[in-house]
Amino acid sequence: MRRYSIQNKIVLPFILLFTVVVLIVPVITIALFDRKYDEQVSRETQEWLETIEDTGFIHQPEKVKEAYGAEVTVVSSDNTVNYTTLSGDRANFADDMKLNEVRKRIKESNVDFVSQNVTVNSKHYKVIYYPQVYDRLYCLMRPIDKIADAKRHITLLMFGIAAVVILLVALISHLIGRNLTNPIKDLVQFTRKVAGGNLNEQCEVKTHDEIGDLTVAFNQMTRELRNSRNELISAERLATAGKMAASFAHEIRNPLSSMQMLAQMLMRKGDLPEARRKQSMQYILEEIERIDVIVKGFMDFARPASLNPAPHDLNQVLQEVLDLMGANLNHHQIGLVKKFAPNLPPVLLDRDKLKQAFMNIVLNAMDAMPKGGTLEIVTLQGVDKVRIDVMDTGIGIAPEDLNQLFEPFFTTKSQGTGLGLANAKRVLEQHSGDIQGRSVVGQGTTISLWLPLSSDSSPSKSKKIGE
Ligand SMILES: Nc1ncnc2c1ncn2[C@@H]1O[C@H](COP(=O)(O)OP(=O)(O)O)[C@@H](O)[C@H]1O
Ligand SMILES: [Mg+2]
Repeated sequence: MRRYSIQNKIVLPFILLFTVVVLIVPVITIALFDRKYDEQVSRETQEWLETIEDTGFIHQPEKVKEAYGAEVTVVSSDNTVNYTTLSGDRANFADDMKLNEVRKRIKESNVDFVSQNVTVNSKHYKVIYYPQVYDRLYCLMRPIDKIADAKRHITLLMFGIAAVVILLVALISHLIGRNLTNPIKDLVQFTRKVAGGNLNEQCEVKTHDEIGDLTVAFNQMTRELRNSRNELISAERLATAGKMAASFAHEIRNPLSSMQMLAQMLMRKGDLPEARRKQSMQYILEEIERIDVIVKGFMDFARPASLNPAPHDLNQVLQEVLDLMGANLNHHQIGLVKKFAPNLPPVLLDRDKLKQAFMNIVLNAMDAMPKGGTLEIVTLQGVDKVRIDVMDTGIGIAPEDLNQLFEPFFTTKSQGTGLGLANAKRVLEQHSGDIQGRSVVGQGTTISLWLPLSSDSSPSKSKKIGE
């Protein structure tokens, strides 16, 4: 079904109504004036006729013409012209003068005379037909060309005024419509933003009417929505913090207990050979280092430093990481394929954090290809974002593991921390970007990252986990 905007619904009926009114009024006015004028002229001409008869001018048509400026024609019973003051062609004279019709009217209504408008030789006359003896007709013809001209002028003038009025009404109703619908359009645009997840803005209240009230109510609703969303996020974070604390305790329990065992053994056996003692101490140091790695990863995740975004050439940033990893990839017999989008516009990003996230993803890909394979890095430019695909031909991820991929401490590796992808996700979120993974077991994995391109979706400067 066709959609009409509110503005059209306001403007169209206005214009239609005014068009009808503005056209009907002149038509009726002109018709009324015409009738009045016609009556007036008929009455006047009748009076002339009476005077003509009284003064005997009826037998002197030339004198009548001289006195009144009117023409006189006398026709006999068979409609042939007996006498006329008219000059020029008289073919079709009987028809032009509507003589038969007039004779019929005189006979039917039995009146003294009949008046009729006629056109003879392209001139307009008001004619009074006055029956005479032997069925002759005395026709007193008063020229009314000037009246017809005046009528035409007035008609044109009135329709001109009507056109101007219609245009004015169209303009005014358009302005009124726009005035009414603009705040509605603003509100609709704002609701779209809210529907898109942006709950941080408020719609400006521009009018103090029902639409203004609606805007205030909508703003109120957006605020409440934002509050409840924030409450939800806090609850979720609390739960995550609990989970993280439990995982953290679990992670450090193993190195702690081996350290405990080693330390107890060193205490009990004071006569241990120097080499064994050193070796045990070395083990303890290694375990401490392992705890240190876990703690560092945990700290990174739990308290990320604030973001330092600046415009960078994304391809260049990725290349720096790949340069760093080149030897390692070679060593693991992993071929590198790069498909970088040319002419990428600068992307607003925190170079160090993005490099760290990207490096974690590449390291995972390497871990997944212990017997070598191919690592493909693709960058793609979209309308308002840029995508990075990291594809490997490794062992793949089981479907049931896929949705835990980005959870802190999810790992399938004996020496893994399970914090690499969780950190990467955090970094991408800080950039208002996104990260997703898909995989086929035995064939390989693709991790896709999105970063916003447009300036208005620039990453927030200091988003931390606790916020
Ligand atoms: N490219 C990949 N191929 C196969 N599995 C992967 C890949 N990337 C991540 N994973 C899986 O996701 C888990 C979590 O990765 P990550 O968060 O980096 O932690 P970690 O590497 O310490 O295990 C890994 O243990 C692994 O099971
Ligand atoms: Mg990892």
